[in-house]
Amino acid sequence: MEHDIPIRRLDFRFPPTIDPVIMPGSPEESFFYMGISAILPYLEPYLIRTMKAALASGELRDAGLTEQVKQFIGQEGQHYRQHIAFNKAAGLHDIDEVRALQREIGETYERYSKTRSLRFNLAYAEGFEAATTALGLASFAVRLFDDMNPRPAEIWRWHLVEELEHRTVAFDAYERVAGDYVFRLSMTLFAHAQLSRFAVRVATAMLRADPELLTQFGGPAARRRRVRAFVIHKLGRHALPRLLRTYLPWYTPHAIALPAEIIAEGRRFSAQALKVS
Ligand SMILES: [Fe+2]
Ligand SMILES: [Fe+2]
Repeated sequence: MEHDIPIRRLDFRFPPTIDPVIMPGSPEESFFYMGISAILPYLEPYLIRTMKAALASGELRDAGLTEQVKQFIGQEGQHYRQHIAFNKAAGLHDIDEVRALQREIGETYERYSKTRSLRFNLAYAEGFEAATTALGLASFAVRLFDDMNPRPAEIWRWHLVEELEHRTVAFDAYERVAGDYVFRLSMTLFAHAQLSRFAVRVATAMLRADPELLTQFGGPAARRRRVRAFVIHKLGRHALPRLLRTYLPWYTPHAIALPAEIIAEGRRFSAQALKVS
């Protein structure tokens, strides 16, 4: 029987180059997603270090949760490796300013692992996982990937399906080790603000690195219209309400039932995986 949190090894067959404008017609929205993708090779290894520290602490005291934490580590390990290949093909590593930002992000997370408590790191992990759960559900609800170029859409679909599959793990680990609502809320707000700032900074650096995109896509007025539509419609109307729910004292990812479409996507990815464990 397949695990509830299956670790799938996939071959996305990335071509040598991928257009970083992954949302046709909108470099700004595309680069916001690329900004998130640029963070993941540093953030997800940090989550893995945190979960390994949780296992080593002996504080989980639950065989089922311990097993889920191991599967979480396996899924996140695949995610950041695929995002490195994707980022490279999309030319992210060729932009000096993006590389400098990635160094800063990497150092930030290294510092957290070395100097912060397990409680802090687990709360940050849950803040991030609450965001991927909310954004994953919002993305499928607005059929975001139907508008995205096919290859980037596949990696994001797979990633968000697995984020949704392991949505309860960081929450349960945090509850087991700390279980303090006010601290979870403050760390979730902190993580969401920091992650959005990083993503916007990468997106801005990418736009700066290719000034011709502005003319190519209709000039400053068209850019303002696109940014407004993205922020108000997609983020404001669909992502924000789901994100706000994760701030409530009674929020639990256990209460979220996955839509049939997401379960079907999980089965599709399992069927096309090189290996599932
Ligand atoms: Fe992930
Ligand atoms: Fe995750």
